[in-house]
Amino acid sequence: MRTLPKPDTLLGGLSIEAFLEHYWQKKPLLIRSAIPGFSSPVSPEQLMQLSHEEDIEARLVLEKGGDYPWQLLYGPFEEDFHDMPESHWSILVQEVNRYVPEVNELLESFKFIPSWRIDDIMVSYAPKDGGVGAHIDNYDVFLLQGMGHRRWQIMNNPVVDAVILPDLDVSILQKFRPDEDWVLSPGDMLYLPPRIAHKGIAQDDCMTYSIGFRAPSHSEILSSFLGYASEQINPDKRYNDPDLVFQPRPGEIQPDVLQKIRAIIREAVKDDTLIDSWFGSFITESQRGYPQMPPDLPLKTDKILAQLKEGRSMTRVPGVSYAFIEEPSGDAHLFANGYDFLFPAPIAKAAPILCDGPYINKLNLSSFMDSQTFLNTLTEMINEGLLAFEEAV
Ligand code: SIN
Ligand code: CO
Repeated sequence: MRTLPKPDTLLGGLSIEAFLEHYWQKKPLLIRSAIPGFSSPVSPEQLMQLSHEEDIEARLVLEKGGDYPWQLLYGPFEEDFHDMPESHWSILVQEVNRYVPEVNELLESFKFIPSWRIDDIMVSYAPKDGGVGAHIDNYDVFLLQGMGHRRWQIMNNPVVDAVILPDLDVSILQKFRPDEDWVLSPGDMLYLPPRIAHKGIAQDDCMTYSIGFRAPSHSEILSSFLGYASEQINPDKRYNDPDLVFQPRPGEIQPDVLQKIRAIIREAVKDDTLIDSWFGSFITESQRGYPQMPPDLPLKTDKILAQLKEGRSMTRVPGVSYAFIEEPSGDAHLFANGYDFLFPAPIAKAAPILCDGPYINKLNLSSFMDSQTFLNTLTEMINEGLLAFEEAV
């Protein structure tokens, strides 16, 4: 693993506390040499290769040279990109951290933000003058320059009512009056809170790494939770009214009926444990349908124990999101890609260790190895493709 900068270098001399207090979700920050000497671990050719893959989300934006201005195409692409125009286009590939270990390692530097808030690392390549136009994102993003130079222009204040140019494939702001104008070189990084208008134009052959965060909308939260809660309810339970009395106005929904309906709804959302376990599963579940890769043959618990005793380390699987919740009872729940694993109080301290990876040292786990519950859970996680033994070198 390469040496990653300490948070105060990454944050341009600011402490984590100062960054969180003054910038996070509040205002943009340009950090020169956030990762000194950084050079893109992915080449443009490798990025193009990734965009050919079936499971990988890739987009191609052709400002010029397409069938019409700002044409947007979705991968997987068959082109070898050699016949592309010389300028004014860009390719963007999501979740590169899942496929390229050196890109995944970059996330280690962003541990000052809870890991469940992190979405992925998107990598873009653009030749001269390529970009995706002036736009806003709904999420926080760190834009790390990986190769070449990109001119970033931004508006300092968040856009409230975004007006988008009509009839284009891509969302481009109708009004863009930048207050700042910078050219970023490899290793420089720009932090943008949500809804800050920005426009990045490649100055030469350019690669940008977007460390993107996720923040579910209230509407997503409610619709997902209510769907989950409704699955837990006995389907035979129905509205009933054995106490019905004659009402002179049959068209009226009477107050006692409304009380009963409100009670059904409130009952469904009053269980905190249900909300907590739904949230852990919901927020760790891959948004892009993570294809889990379980081992070819399921491993047995005693084999796993033997390997741990031999000193083999485990790793978390790149791209899988892990989080835990410690309950007041002392039990913990570990969530990984939507799965919910119970770690009863005596082994609850294993949950943060497994979540903290990427490398999980067997020494940190040694105090749990006598617990059959722990070994069973570990076995389940390994066989679901959520944890793996590190490749022997
Ligand atoms: C890019 O890498 O070109 C786009 C990143 C962004 O603006 O969010
Ligand atoms: Co953006």
